[in-house]
Amino acid sequence: MRTLVTLLSLFLLGAHAQHGSEWTYSEGALDEAHWPQSYPACGGQRQSPINLQRRKVQYNPSLKALNLTGYEVQDGKFPMINNGHTVQISLPSTMHMTASDGTVYIAQQMHFHWGGASSEISGSEHTVDGIRQAVEIHVVHYNSKYESYDIAQYEPDGLAVLAAFIETKNYAENTYYSNFISHLANIKYAGQSTDLTDLDIQDMLPEDLHHYYSYQGSLTTPPCTENVRWFVLADSVKLSKSQILKLENSLLDHKNKTIQNDYRKTQPLNHRVVEANFMYFPNQHYALGSEFRSYLSKISENIEYVRKFVEQKKARRKSQC
Ligand SMILES: *[C@@H]1O[C@H](CO)[C@@H](O)[C@H](O)[C@H]1NC(C)=O
Ligand SMILES: *[C@@H]1O[C@H](CO)[C@@H](O)[C@H](O)[C@H]1NC(C)=O
Repeated sequence: MRTLVTLLSLFLLGAHAQHGSEWTYSEGALDEAHWPQSYPACGGQRQSPINLQRRKVQYNPSLKALNLTGYEVQDGKFPMINNGHTVQISLPSTMHMTASDGTVYIAQQMHFHWGGASSEISGSEHTVDGIRQAVEIHVVHYNSKYESYDIAQYEPDGLAVLAAFIETKNYAENTYYSNFISHLANIKYAGQSTDLTDLDIQDMLPEDLHHYYSYQGSLTTPPCTENVRWFVLADSVKLSKSQILKLENSLLDHKNKTIQNDYRKTQPLNHRVVEANFMYFPNQHYALGSEFRSYLSKISENIEYVRKFVEQKKARRKSQC
């Protein structure tokens, strides 16, 4: 009997170790190159992140701005946890986002990807024309036609992520981030959690919320499910160098190693098309002001309007002949 119990517990221990062996980005048996062995979707054809190659992005004037509801300041307590891979904030279901096709997505959580290893301040997951920004924000949502995130995560149209970049040059402190960054000290160890109060997600996002890239992809961490509609904002958030350094050096993973470079390599685009609701002009400066970008898209909307008008005229003339 004793032997049986020992064998059984050994078996359970083994099963647990196998199941509990944490995936990583670059170390151990389950680094990102080996994710597909344990999580088959990670080897799929529609994976994220990707490089957003602006020259090849398709301008789609029918993509309207996202309607973000409940993103402004909210009272209450918002749990913020170190999950061993990143810092994650739980979001209230009063926060939601409506895409231009009318689909409503309910906010679930928000987390970050950053760099920091070998003094490189560069850790975004998506890149734009090959350039990796300092940090990437992911606000994860699920389709409101499903009852909960737990159900939606397995559905083909289940999820949507609103992503934004954080950049740093020699910016001063961004006070909208001070509260969040000071709370990192409370969750140094993996599994620890703390509460944020008076959360204002809109303040933590870029000023220009109108212009975005969009494509169909996956979760960027295991299980890499290919059911994510991505909205990557064109504008970025600005943080000071010391704020970025705090984000890169405050948290430890399950092995008490500093969480750094928690980003996945860009994945092949394959046959997907990336769309944007703004036009790309080759010598447009990266940090072009949002006002000017709005102005440019107004012009392109007008061009589109005239083009449609002319087409209708032509069609009418044809039908009269
Ligand atoms: C945005 O959504 C809110 C509530 O979901 C709605 O009241 C509002 O009219 C919408 N705004 C636009 C511009 O569609
Ligand atoms: C990490 O460090 C803490 C505090 O020193 C300790 O309690 C914990 O056991 C350590 N964990 C590992 C996996 O070494």
